[in-house]
Amino acid sequence: MALADFLAELEQLASEAEAAFAQAADPAALESARVEFVGAKKGRLKQVQQGMRSVEAADRPAAGKQLNDAKNRIEQAAQQAQQRLNSSDQQTAAKPAFDPTLPGVRPRLGRLHPITQTIADMKDIMGRLGFTAVEGPEIEDDWHNFQALNIPLEHPARDPLDNFYLATAAGSTGAGAEPTLLLRSQTSTVQIRVMSETPPPVRIISLGRVYRPDTADATHYPMFHQIEGLLVDRQVTMADLKSVLRMFCQSYFGGQDVHIRFRPSFFPFTEPSVEVDMNWQSGWMEMGGAGMVDPNVLQAVGYDPEEVTGFAFGLGVERICMRRHGIQDIRDLYTNDVRFLQQF
Ligand code: DAH
Repeated sequence: MALADFLAELEQLASEAEAAFAQAADPAALESARVEFVGAKKGRLKQVQQGMRSVEAADRPAAGKQLNDAKNRIEQAAQQAQQRLNSSDQQTAAKPAFDPTLPGVRPRLGRLHPITQTIADMKDIMGRLGFTAVEGPEIEDDWHNFQALNIPLEHPARDPLDNFYLATAAGSTGAGAEPTLLLRSQTSTVQIRVMSETPPPVRIISLGRVYRPDTADATHYPMFHQIEGLLVDRQVTMADLKSVLRMFCQSYFGGQDVHIRFRPSFFPFTEPSVEVDMNWQSGWMEMGGAGMVDPNVLQAVGYDPEEVTGFAFGLGVERICMRRHGIQDIRDLYTNDVRFLQQF
């Protein structure tokens, strides 16, 4: 083979290789260019190199020098391509992992428990009716849970079988000088706390846990929630009570189609007293108790029953929540099965 032909072949090879490496856009393309041009067995450089044997012996030194130059060019092109790909790798890695200009994806952070949601809704509705939410302690004394609420010593509501009394330091349940403590059995305790500290008028609600030693079944649980309401002012009537309860239920259940019914009842702290029933979509449901604050209670907190009157109510939060969502068993609310909770 003439030297000129060999050199032309070399030049052709080197420039094609340079172009191929320069265009390699990713590691796979780089690798296939390497195989094509500098592959150990079938690489094109190898083939051209074999052609050198047929070059005239006198021309071989010159051919060999050119061959080395061509090898160097190709190797350099391959290295440059390699460096280029490495540094663009780093650039991608240094970029933020997300594009802040794209619309966001809301993270799944869990959700509020249905009872927590219900409490928030109730505070919101009653807030719009002018009632301020207040808190009271869950561990109560005899005065706030019973005595001031006109529940005398011998009253069956104090039965140890119906209350979670707490052992006092003396190891007894309140005998002697130790105050009797218990987990509150009703949120009516908060009425006493508020009225003892605030002169009338008052307009409050209190939402929280209450405790009774009931065996858990579809409608009972030893811990549940009540919403307590209290309004004391001049000339408060049962009509006000019924209006407030109706507006409350209509807002919570969403519609005019909600009705309130009173049935005569008895509670030591109200006179007259009623059971409150609600009708929404189908049938009457018991919600809790209500009435006009008993003059004895007003007196116990230092109010003048000749000056002010008031209404009070205490409703079961779970019942109301269960009715709205069609929950059949109160235990579902406290088993905390995520598949159940996810629905709210
Ligand atoms: N505390 C009563 C209960 O737990 C409910 C109740 C009835 C609350 C009448 C009141 C009321 O404020 O006036 O069964």
